[in-house]
Amino acid sequence: MTEWTPDLSTDVPVLDEQHKAIFQWLSELESATADQRTLFGVYVLTRLKHYMREHFAAEEAMMKAAGYPGLEQHHAEHAKFRVKLEEIQLKSIGEDISTDTVHFLTNWLTHHIAITDMAYVPYLKRLEGVSSCGRPDENTP
Ligand SMILES: [Fe+2]
Ligand SMILES: [Fe+2]
Repeated sequence: MTEWTPDLSTDVPVLDEQHKAIFQWLSELESATADQRTLFGVYVLTRLKHYMREHFAAEEAMMKAAGYPGLEQHHAEHAKFRVKLEEIQLKSIGEDISTDTVHFLTNWLTHHIAITDMAYVPYLKRLEGVSSCGRPDENTP
C-alpha cells in the first residue's frame, strides 16, 4: 500500500498536503498497474509529472526565501528525478507500466522526503517564525 505516513511530516502544512497528494497519485498508479489499466496508468503518470513539477517549484521557492544553504543540491536532485520521470512517462505510452516502476517511484519519493526534504525543515520553520512573530525561533539554526 502506497501512502503518506506521519513520520514523513515536514511540519509545513502546504508541503505535507502536496506530499500526501503525490502518494495518492502513486497509489492510483499502483492499482492501475495491478489491474492492467494501461491508459489510466499513462494518465496518472502524466498528472504525477505535472504535479511534481509544481511541488518542486513550490519547495524550491520556499527554500530560496528561507536562505536554505542546500538549495543547489536539492534542486539538482529534483532536476535529475524530473528527467527520470519524463523517461518513465514517455515509455508508459508504448507499453505496460511495471510494478518495478511503481516501486522505484515510491522508494524515491519516500527516501527524498525522509532525507532531503527533512533537511530544510529547520530553515523553513525559522522563516515561519520570522513572518508570524517578527523574529526567528532561537532554537533553529
Ligand atoms: Fe518534497
Ligand atoms: Fe524535495
